[in-house]
Amino acid sequence: MTEAQSRSAAGAGEQLRTLVIIPTYNERENLPLIVERVRSAVPEVDILVVDDGSPDGTGEIADKIAADDSQVQVLHRDQKAGLGAAYVAGFQVGLTAGYQILVEMDADGSHAPEQLPRLLAALAHSDLVLGSRWVPGGQVLNWPRSRELLSRGGNLYTRMALGIELHDATGGYRAYRRSVLEAIDLSAISSEGYCFQVDLAWRAVQAGFRVTEVPITFAERERGESKMSGDIVREALLRVTEWGGAHRAAQLRGLLSRGSR
Ligand code: GDD
Ligand code: MN
Repeated sequence: MTEAQSRSAAGAGEQLRTLVIIPTYNERENLPLIVERVRSAVPEVDILVVDDGSPDGTGEIADKIAADDSQVQVLHRDQKAGLGAAYVAGFQVGLTAGYQILVEMDADGSHAPEQLPRLLAALAHSDLVLGSRWVPGGQVLNWPRSRELLSRGGNLYTRMALGIELHDATGGYRAYRRSVLEAIDLSAISSEGYCFQVDLAWRAVQAGFRVTEVPITFAERERGESKMSGDIVREALLRVTEWGGAHRAAQLRGLLSRGSR
C-alpha cells in the first residue's frame, strides 16, 4: 500500500480529530521546519507545541507560527521539567479539547511527518501505534554505533524485564487513541526521557490495549543538541528493573495462589 492509500484507508470510515504534540526545548532552528513538514504532509491534523520556557526563544517563534495558523497552538510552561512532564501536560490539553487521536513527535526532524499516515492507518486495528526503528523495514540514519547499541540494548532489556513483545518501547514517535490516555492515570506519571515512553507503552499493554509497531526511519538531528543524558538512561534502567520485578512478583503470587487451590 502506498502512503496515500493507507491514509485514505484510515480516513475511509472515520475522520478522527488528530493532535500532534511536539515538545520543545531550545529548538529554534528546528521548529519552523517541523511544523511546515507536518502541515504539508498531513494538512488535516492540528499541532500543539509544548515549550518549557526555552532560553533560545523557541516559545516566541512558536507563538509567531500559531498567530498565522489556526491549526497550531502553543502551551508554555515555566521551566524545563523533562519530556515526560511536557507530554503529560500536552495530553491533558488535547483530551480536554476533545481530540480523538494524540500523536507524539520530536521537534528535531528525527521523526518524519511524511510517515505519520502510516502510524494513523495502523490505528484502524490498534489503540496505540509505536513507530519502530527495530522491526523489519525500520532504520536509524546517522547514529553513532554507541547510540545504536544503547537503544537496541535498552529495548532488549525492556523486552526481557517486562516480558513484552515490543521491539521499540523507548521510541518517541507514536499515535494514541484517546481511550488509552483516558485509561491511564496521567497525574501518576513521573518518568522522563526513554523511561516515560516505556512507562506509557507498558501501562497500555497492562491495561489490555492493542499495541502495535510500524517501521519508521529515524534520522538523527542535523541542528541543535540532544537533551538525552546519562541520568535519563540510569532512570530508565532503574525503573524498568523495578517494574519488571513487580510484574514477576505478581505473576508468581498468581501461580502460587492457583497452586494452593
Ligand atoms: N518541553 C520539553 N521539555 N521538551 C523537551 C525536553 C523538556 O524537558 N527535553 C527534550 N525535549 C524535546 C526536544 O526538544 C525534542 O523535540 C524532543 O523532546 C526529543 O529530545 P531529543 O533531545 O532530541 O531526544 P533524543 O533524540 O536524544 O531521543 C529521542 O529518541 C529516544 C529514544 O532513542 C526521543 O524520541 C525520545 O523520546 C526517545 O526516547
Ligand atoms: Mn532527537
